[in-house]
Amino acid sequence: MKAFLFDLDGVIVDTAHFHYQAWRRLANEKLGFDISEEFNENLKGVSRTESLERILAHGNTTLDEGTKAAYATLKNEWYVELINKMTPDDILPGVKVFLEKTRQSGIKIGLGSVSKNAKPILEKIGIVEDFDVIIDGTKISKGKPDPEVFLKGAQELNIAPHECVVFEDAVAGIEAGKRAGMKTVGIGQAEVLKEADIVFPNLVNVEIFELLQALF
Ligand code: G6P
Ligand code: MG
Repeated sequence: MKAFLFDLDGVIVDTAHFHYQAWRRLANEKLGFDISEEFNENLKGVSRTESLERILAHGNTTLDEGTKAAYATLKNEWYVELINKMTPDDILPGVKVFLEKTRQSGIKIGLGSVSKNAKPILEKIGIVEDFDVIIDGTKISKGKPDPEVFLKGAQELNIAPHECVVFEDAVAGIEAGKRAGMKTVGIGQAEVLKEADIVFPNLVNVEIFELLQALF
């Protein structure tokens, strides 16, 4: 195994919750309905514009293109307000140690996120330097479950997809990893991430040797 490719939101930091908060505020204040945490699972890993489309369909609402663009921008402004307060203390438990163990094992480290805010978040939490490659929403044209983001990561590292492992909290992200021909590690609940090769609640105490033994 030569590379580990990490999703950002919900794997490295708890920003999946901030995305939900900002979309929920938009649904409540502008669209006149609520979105549940359960529905929010469908938004994880999905691009900003596609997320809004899914929310509108969920509420049986249609909007003209101009209003959609304005609402997507508004959601992002609220989201950026939330992420601006982030510090290195917001790195999820177990992540730093796991990245160190990965590095020590000689395995490359990549980021595969659909978010256009990924780079500023990595800077705020001080871990840009830990990544050999960063693929974010500014470098891709298709969101997850399309495999583009992970295939690009493997390509930039010059490593074959089957030698990569994807770490994901999203159903769409696990699908993207599988479609890329990679092994997938779910971070979250096994009931939600049914298609993952293996699922952990978080990266605390995950041992690389044991993980690779379970995957191969
Ligand atoms: C990640 C998150 C999604 C988010 C997407 C785009 O994939 O899991 O919830 O919609 O990035 O993020 P952005 O910051 O560009 O709106
Ligand atoms: Mg995620």
